[in-house]
Amino acid sequence: MTKAHGLPWRVKFCIQSIKLASIMAILQILQYPDERLHTIAKKVVQVNDVTRKLVKNMAQTMYAAPGVGLAATQVDVHEQVIVVDISETHNELRVFINPEILCISGEIEGEEGCLSVPGIYENVRRAEKVTVRALDQNGETFTLEAEGFLAVCIQHEMDHLRGKVFVEYLSQLKQTRLRAKLKKRRREAL
Ligand code: NI
Repeated sequence: MTKAHGLPWRVKFCIQSIKLASIMAILQILQYPDERLHTIAKKVVQVNDVTRKLVKNMAQTMYAAPGVGLAATQVDVHEQVIVVDISETHNELRVFINPEILCISGEIEGEEGCLSVPGIYENVRRAEKVTVRALDQNGETFTLEAEGFLAVCIQHEMDHLRGKVFVEYLSQLKQTRLRAKLKKRRREAL
């Protein structure tokens, strides 16, 4: 997921990330409407070094983009792993492996963006509070009560694991227009 505002910070971070890119593993992010984004992710059977390496690479990819959340689905790994960091300082990484929503409440509507749909921001209605249970990088179970923007991010990223991209909450007409716009944009970029 990406934030809609805060451009100066974003530009500054981009410059830093270009410098760091050579020593980091930046994964390729699938771009909507890539069919692979609709793959249903499988549960991680065992949290091991391979999982931790994936988490590290996903976090680096998210920070470099820059974004505030990334699901393994977006880097074409179809396992239930998501990373989230909504801090401005990029030092509050949260890792959710095999996340499950235990409880939701309230309703909130806000503008969302996605690293798989760059430059597109649309309003989506979500639960305001979620209680999520997941495994951390050490395979330990934890439960987190999240609200507001963090709750939105978790829901957005968990949707990716189910093969759903946020623009699929829009009306069919809006989705058709969006696909045409992205197609045109890609044609122009060639
Ligand atoms: Ni996304």
